[in-house]
Amino acid sequence: MRLLVLVSVCLLVSVWADDTPVDLTLQPGEKGKDIVDACIGRINLAQIFQDDAGMLRRIAWVESQFGEAEGVTTCIWGVTPTMYETVSPSQATKDAILEGLGIDWDQVDVSDLNKPLYCALAARILFAACQTDLPLSLDLQADLWATCYNTQGNMQTYIDAVNELEQESECKIPGMDMVFVLDGSGSVGADNFETVKDFVSSVVDAFEIGQSRTRIGVVQYSNEIQNEFNLTEYGNKPDVQSAIGNITYLQGSTYTGAALRYMTDVSFSLEAGARPAYQAIPKVGIVVTDGEATDNVRGPADRAHEAGINVFAIGIGGYDRRELNQIATDPDATHVFAVDNFAATDYIKDALEGRTCKEPAPVPVGENVQGDLPQGTLQFLSFKVKIRHGMTFKLKMRVGSVNFYLSIRIRNPNRALYDFRLRTRPNKMRLDIFIPPSRLREMLGRERRQAVVDDDEEVELYASLEGVDGTNQFDLETDEGDTADPAYLDNGSPRAAAGVLTLVMLLLTAIMQ
Ligand SMILES: *[C@@H]1O[C@H](CO)[C@@H](O)[C@H](O)[C@H]1NC(C)=O
Ligand SMILES: *[C@@H]1O[C@H](CO)[C@@H](O)[C@H](O)[C@H]1NC(C)=O
Repeated sequence: MRLLVLVSVCLLVSVWADDTPVDLTLQPGEKGKDIVDACIGRINLAQIFQDDAGMLRRIAWVESQFGEAEGVTTCIWGVTPTMYETVSPSQATKDAILEGLGIDWDQVDVSDLNKPLYCALAARILFAACQTDLPLSLDLQADLWATCYNTQGNMQTYIDAVNELEQESECKIPGMDMVFVLDGSGSVGADNFETVKDFVSSVVDAFEIGQSRTRIGVVQYSNEIQNEFNLTEYGNKPDVQSAIGNITYLQGSTYTGAALRYMTDVSFSLEAGARPAYQAIPKVGIVVTDGEATDNVRGPADRAHEAGINVFAIGIGGYDRRELNQIATDPDATHVFAVDNFAATDYIKDALEGRTCKEPAPVPVGENVQGDLPQGTLQFLSFKVKIRHGMTFKLKMRVGSVNFYLSIRIRNPNRALYDFRLRTRPNKMRLDIFIPPSRLREMLGRERRQAVVDDDEEVELYASLEGVDGTNQFDLETDEGDTADPAYLDNGSPRAAAGVLTLVMLLLTAIMQ
């Protein structure tokens, strides 16, 4: 009899689980790629540390193959109890961890190392203590790892493991619209300008180029702006790379602000070949500059961000860090690269490939997205929503099925970390979900550890969609407020079924008594 009650309660709980937030980053013993990416994604979005130069992810692989190497029992990042004793974050870091992740570091102890996020934080704090500006070069990273982090390791282990990890491109997205904005001012110098062209060419090399995949455009600027080629001009990689090779160096001064304005107004216009909003293809602008701008960048940069362009800023040599931060999209730690010389651009390309690939496409609420995702392909979207209104998502499958994750805590939610999930089922071609203001407030409050008072505040919701079957085509409709049709609510039917079952069981229990 007790068993029956227990079973019925369990049933109720299990069907409610779909709209329960999942956070495996705090689950002791969890491991694997999604966990590692979720931990790093949370740390990055919380803006606690400077750029980790990709080291956090690499170390998770070097130390334990994302926790999946044989014999790994506690910390994915290999932080041992002895190493943990030397973890001593500054007060400022502790404050940032509390504010950004809701973790009070003073309450953490060595037994927490088996929780992936805590282990990642411990590793990251150890790194911050080794060196603030972490090197992008693989050799220098290997040296740092072997001398400061894992003193039993040797450099070659790090280099070999990283090469193994990164030999295969992990960029599985439908494509991007990518525009390079190149500083052609006099201070760059002709030789260095050639190095920049090689860099652009090598970045392009990492992607599948095509009209329906990633499109490339290039703008060069000094005191004038030269539109080298538009997004739709070349439809394949050899042509794009040949066109990059043919770019001639302008010389002159550095009107970066004007170039940003041009990028927003012309390069990413529909006329110049950017794809329309309903396709939700991320717009990525990559600004390469060697020195301070002659004009003001702040206004034009803000406008680019508002237009939904994800801007990466690469500063070489005489850059001004503050200006790079203004140019780049937030968080700066993942959108700014600053190197001392042109040769170092070689180290940026891998990191840039990985990061551009994870950029969400901002979608205005109310814009209907039409997606087409082959199996295993991911599409990242973001939505700005006013807390007061709440938001409705309606996911209609035309073909196949997708996994759909939503979060405010991470820009690329996955199975390890999400606040909501929609799982399309073969017999359910449409699913609706309404996220009420109370839920938004609660989600935000949990992350910030304080109540949200201003209902007019906007939050950014991030979504990932992943193709499950061979071919997957969907329509995603969004609305402010509650327009969800109860007939299509995600777990409406199983919940109802379980409700009936529970009633029957409780009745049975009563009868047996
Ligand atoms: C680059 O220049 C070469 C030599 O002038 C020319 O043959 C080629 O077509 C140009 N490439 C593009 C993409 O215009
Ligand atoms: C690119 O597109 C813009 C906007 O339509 C147009 O003004 C410009 O001439 C095009 N540039 C090139 C190089 O085709």
